[in-house]
Amino acid sequence: MKVYESKGYNIYNGTEALDFLFQYLIEKDYSTVFVLTDSNTQKHCLPQLSPYLIDFKHISIDAGENAKNIKNGEKIWTFLADHYADRKTVLINLGGGTITDLGGFCAATYKRGIDFIHVPTTLLGMVDASIGGKQGIDLNYFKNSVGVFKHPVAIFIYPGFLKTLPKRQLTAGVAEMMKHALISDKDEWDKFTKMNVHDEEKIVLLISKSVKIKREIVNKDPQEKNIRKVLNFGHTIGHAIESYSLKHDSNPLLHGEAIAIGIICETWLSYKLLQVSKKEAEEVVEFVTGYFPVYPLAKVNQNELLDLMRNDKKNEDDLINFSLLKKIGKPIINQTTSDALIREALNFYIQLQPNDTATQAPSTN
Ligand SMILES: NC(=O)c1ccc[n+]([C@@H]2O[C@H](COP(=O)([O-])OP(=O)(O)OC[C@H]3O[C@@H](n4cnc5c(N)ncnc54)[C@H](O)[C@@H]3O)[C@@H](O)[C@H]2O)c1
Repeated sequence: MKVYESKGYNIYNGTEALDFLFQYLIEKDYSTVFVLTDSNTQKHCLPQLSPYLIDFKHISIDAGENAKNIKNGEKIWTFLADHYADRKTVLINLGGGTITDLGGFCAATYKRGIDFIHVPTTLLGMVDASIGGKQGIDLNYFKNSVGVFKHPVAIFIYPGFLKTLPKRQLTAGVAEMMKHALISDKDEWDKFTKMNVHDEEKIVLLISKSVKIKREIVNKDPQEKNIRKVLNFGHTIGHAIESYSLKHDSNPLLHGEAIAIGIICETWLSYKLLQVSKKEAEEVVEFVTGYFPVYPLAKVNQNELLDLMRNDKKNEDDLINFSLLKKIGKPIINQTTSDALIREALNFYIQLQPNDTATQAPSTN
């Protein structure tokens, strides 16, 4: 069991995480324990969690990114109120990033804030979404536009939940692990590229490394005033593509899949604008493309993508803001460039695709 202590909260990672959760709840003696799930985590994860809870009230919402909205926020607040949740209540968010973001936001705002615990059940949730204290919801197609910074009182990462996670979702989580390795150091990246994330024994170690990288950055700059922005590498273009896909595609990209495209395009920008060498850039692109399905970016309206980037909350002074790599392991924040170069970065991704797959949608398994 790996325990990371942070100011005000701990992160428990390992096979005994649920035993630690049980102990934690006994010590805290909450008036009521609420559990938030989506339909999938209700089916696959709640039966594994419930033996560790003495008594709890359960609320479930639909699965998927589209559920991260104010309507479900209202549903959760109403459920809490209808069941007399007071300020000694705790909300356990059992799910991927959708559930931890939404549940964290509801708990942080209900009665000006009640305790909440994240129990992430996706790889992306374990290494990224549950860590760092960003809680929020989407505003129409604008990702994470309404939210707060507040840490959960604790995070319990039980890798056993990954057994039922669909392979596509597991792979999506790898994108954020890649990003963590790329912004951390070259050795970390080299080691990461040699590890197999589908190896159950290795995954605990990989989760630990990724959590450590994110946690250390967040601890230095909790509110993303400066250094935390390095975590946005891949996200300026990635978020725009994700929002576009959510709006236009019947089978939209997952967050991690969109970030993988963002990592490729922003590595290319790092090569063009900074000192990432051609060799390093090719290595990153080859590794990332090896994991992810092709997305038909050639069919995407680039003007709309640029508009989405202009609407990104990371921007300042009307300029699209990027976090790029000076080289692998040396991220640099607050970079800007021309629309023309952003289009070139998108075209770089497009020309990587073999012609016959350029219009293929991502697989759903
Ligand atoms: N707060 C942050 O710092 C932060 C960071 C990164 C991403 N995010 C957010 O996280 C969200 C994406 O999270 P995600 O990729 O975990 O998606 P998700 O929460 O939507 O989960 C993906 C799918 O997997 C299902 N699922 C979850 N756990 C399962 C399990 N163990 N077995 C079977 N099915 C399971 C879910 O029901 C859902 O259908 C996005 O909204 C993104 O913006 C937030």
